[in-house]
Amino acid sequence: MQTLGFFFFIGLLFISYISSSSLASTSRRLTTLKQTDLQPEDFKLHVDPNLKFENPRLMKAYYALQEWKKAIYSDPQNMTGNWVGPNVCSYEGVFCALAKDDPNILTVGLIDLNYGDIAGHLVPHLALLSDLGVLHINSNRFCGIIPKTFSKLNRLFEFDVSNNRFVGPFPKVVLGMPHLRFLDIRYNEFEGALPPELFEKRLDAIVVNNNRFHSAIPDNIGNSPVSMLVLANNKFTGCIPKTFGNMPRLEQVSLSNNLLTGCLPEEITNLQGLIVFDVSDNKFVGQLPKNLDKLKRVERFDFSNNELTGKVEKSVCSINALLDFRISSNYFSEINGECDKLVSEKLLSMKDKDNCIPKRSDQKTDKICSQMVNRQVDCKNVGCTPPGNRKVTPHKPKPPPQKIHPTIKAALTPPTPVQSPLPPVFSPPPTSSVPPPTPQSPPAPTLKDIVRPPNIGSRYSPPPPPVVQGH
Ligand SMILES: *[C@@H]1O[C@H](CO)[C@@H](O)[C@H](O)[C@H]1NC(C)=O
Repeated sequence: MQTLGFFFFIGLLFISYISSSSLASTSRRLTTLKQTDLQPEDFKLHVDPNLKFENPRLMKAYYALQEWKKAIYSDPQNMTGNWVGPNVCSYEGVFCALAKDDPNILTVGLIDLNYGDIAGHLVPHLALLSDLGVLHINSNRFCGIIPKTFSKLNRLFEFDVSNNRFVGPFPKVVLGMPHLRFLDIRYNEFEGALPPELFEKRLDAIVVNNNRFHSAIPDNIGNSPVSMLVLANNKFTGCIPKTFGNMPRLEQVSLSNNLLTGCLPEEITNLQGLIVFDVSDNKFVGQLPKNLDKLKRVERFDFSNNELTGKVEKSVCSINALLDFRISSNYFSEINGECDKLVSEKLLSMKDKDNCIPKRSDQKTDKICSQMVNRQVDCKNVGCTPPGNRKVTPHKPKPPPQKIHPTIKAALTPPTPVQSPLPPVFSPPPTSSVPPPTPQSPPAPTLKDIVRPPNIGSRYSPPPPPVVQGH
């Protein structure tokens, strides 16, 4: 089976480090390098002179990995137990390959400690792994921040630190990695805003769900060439920027469970590559965009749990590829009969409860519906402030404290796994069975092949993710 690991063999080779000062003066865009504290070449290698190494790169790798090992405080599976001695290529989770720029020497190309449950932190010295293409440390207990020296990982193209305990603002250090393609930082505790520069990078995937991001989505998001964009389960606010429709490669997007509002922009119908579109659990108002049927490849639409009104047209249900259509918990007042027909023929799965559809079970009450279904939403003027903040309403008084917290029982029982409709995206991440890369590897699969169903199920079989944010 092909794996993400083979991405290691793509990429250009810039072995020599350029000092941050010269780079910063030549390019204003590489601002992240200014914050780079320690340069890899600044490290004095403290290595026992009695140890014999095949080449200097493996000696640097030895030093970096030993320094990392010192910063590991718990390793319940003893994964780093054999990280002893000069043969770093035999260390568990460390994979060597021939250097791209020098096919005569072996170097560390991939680190995979997925599902290690290891507690510790990352050390700046890891930037000495100058040939590293893939770093997978998902589902561990690494904490702290991503060291600034990581911007010197000049060949890294897959960076997966998901499902750990990293904190602080978005790790801007990734913006300095020249060949990064796949960024997965989901299930951590990053907070604040996403930097607009993120959407100027030539990435294939941006996966930042289940953090504490709290800002508007930057207006330049449309410049991003990603095929997969997952912002779910954060606290993003505001509208979907109109540039959103400019992402020709976008295939899977989830904005679910944020505080997004406004109307769904008509521009999304330009996303011709779209396969999954999930905007559930937000505060969107207005009607479904016209011409959604232009999205010929869509397999799943999820508009559930918003404040959408109007009718569901036949043209939407009739999209050939559409299998799963969710509109529950809105104020839709009509569904075209063709949609029901497709459902009865089992050609379409539709979730439509808790709307305002006449003569259908599990709908909202007439009283609620009468206030909402005829609401005229002027999308031009509806603004981008969530409904709750639109009017200046006095704060509701807090309810008096209850003697026994009603949810204490729920809080004490272990969290139930999030049943994710998008397995690769919501669950913390890929399995650890990444074979070492070999020079004879087949050409790298595109991310498209990797993230698209149905292969996804077999490739990503994660354990239940922690519920970071229930609602
Ligand atoms: C961990 O692994 C090393 C090397 O494989 C072994 O020598 C050591 O005894 C192991 N430690 C435990 C606690 O299992």
